Amino acid sequence: MNASDIRTIEVALGARRYPVWIGRGLLGDSARWRERLRGRHALVVSNTTVAPLYMERLARGLDGLHWSSFLLEDGEAHKTFANVGRALQALATLGATRDACVIALGGGVVGDLAGFAAACWMRGIDFIQVPTTLLAMVDSSVGGKTGVNLPAGKNLAGAFHQPLAVVADIDTLATLPDREYRAGLAEVAKGAAIGDADFFVWLEAHADALVARDTGAVVEAIARKVRYKAGVVARDETEQGERALLNLGHTFGHALETAGHYTKLLHGEAVAIGMVLAARLSERLGMSNAPDTARLQRLLERLGLPIAVPAGSDAKQLLALMRLDKKNTADTLRLILWRGIGRAEIVGGVDEATVISVLEAAPATTTAS
Ligand code: NAD
Ligand code: GLY
Repeated sequence: MNASDIRTIEVALGARRYPVWIGRGLLGDSARWRERLRGRHALVVSNTTVAPLYMERLARGLDGLHWSSFLLEDGEAHKTFANVGRALQALATLGATRDACVIALGGGVVGDLAGFAAACWMRGIDFIQVPTTLLAMVDSSVGGKTGVNLPAGKNLAGAFHQPLAVVADIDTLATLPDREYRAGLAEVAKGAAIGDADFFVWLEAHADALVARDTGAVVEAIARKVRYKAGVVARDETEQGERALLNLGHTFGHALETAGHYTKLLHGEAVAIGMVLAARLSERLGMSNAPDTARLQRLLERLGLPIAVPAGSDAKQLLALMRLDKKNTADTLRLILWRGIGRAEIVGGVDEATVISVLEAAPATTTAS
C-alpha cells in the first residue's frame, strides 16, 4: 500500500457530512484537514503516552495557527469532568474564539474527553478526531458520542457532538501494544457480528493477516467497520433505536469490566466475552443456533481475544451490575441479542433466571481475575 492510497468514508447526517480518512501518512498530510479549519485557534488534546510519539508530526501541520496543547495523564481514570474543566481552561488561556478547533490526538479516552470539551466551549466548537488506537479508529472516533465517566458510572455525562473530520493514520498503530491492538479487533468483529454477515466471512478469511497487522487487511477492516457504523449512525444519530445494536456484548461486558474494577479486562476484551455470552443466551432463548455461536467463538479466539469469563466471577453480582445498564427500562432487562451472524436484535424483558444460568454455565479462565 502506498502513502497515497487513502480511503475515504463519508458519514452523512442529513445535510451535514464529514469524512473519515484511513491510510498511511495522514498525520503529515495536514493540507487535507487544515482546509476545514474555520478560524486561527486550535487546542490539541492528547495524553502523556501519545504526545511524545506523535505530537511533533501533527504540530508540523499547525504552522501559522495560534495553538497550544493540553495533555491528560494516561488511562481511563483520567476521563473525568475535572479534566474537561482543565481543557476548557486551556481553551480560555488560548483565547479560543467560536471558530476555534479542538484536535483530539489519541485513543478513545482522549477522543471522548476532547470531543466533550469541544461540545461545551461556547456551546459547541469544531473538533477533529485523530485516533491512534485501532479501537478509536473503528469505533469511538466515528459517530459523535463524546463524554466522561462519573464516580457513579462510565460515560454517564456527555453530548452528541460530531467531528469535522476523522484522520485515521494507520502508521500510528506501529507503536500500539499488541493487547490494545487485539482489543480493537474485537470492535471490528462486533460490527460484522451485529449486521454484516459478508464482512464476518471476510474476517474469517483474513484473521491471520489481521493478527499479523498486514497493512492492506488492516485498512480494509477499518474501512468496512467504519462504513457499517456510519450507516447505522446516519439512520439513528442519537440512539433512538437501531444505534443501540452497536452495543452487542456491552451489557455483559460492562458488568465484567465493573466487577474487575476496570483493571482486569480491556474494554474490547470484555466486549469479546460479552458477545459470546449474548450468543449463548440467544441460543438458550431459541433465537439462534449453536453453529453460529461456535463460529463467533472461533473467530474471536483466532483474533487473540478471550472468550471465557474471568475465574471467580459471580453470576448474581454480574446480573446485578447488568441491571444498571443504560439500555434497560425501569423494570426489565433489555439486551442486544442475535438471531445468528449479522442479525442482532434489541430484546426487552429478558428472563433473569436464563441470564443467570448462562453466566453459571460459562467456561471460566483457569487463573483468578
Ligand atoms: P485508550 O484511549 O485508553 O488507549 C489505550 C492505550 O493505548 C492508552 O494507554 C493509550 O495511551 C495508548 N495509546 C494510544 N495510542 C497509542 C499509540 N499509537 N501507540 C502507543 N500507545 C498508544 O483506550 P481506547 O481503547 O482507545 O478507548 C477506550 C475508550 O473509548 C473508553 O473510554 C470507552 O468508553 C471509549 N469508547 C467510546 C466510544 C464512543 O462511541 N465514543 C466507543 C467505544 C469506546
Ligand atoms: N460505540 C457505540 C456507539 O457509538 O453508539
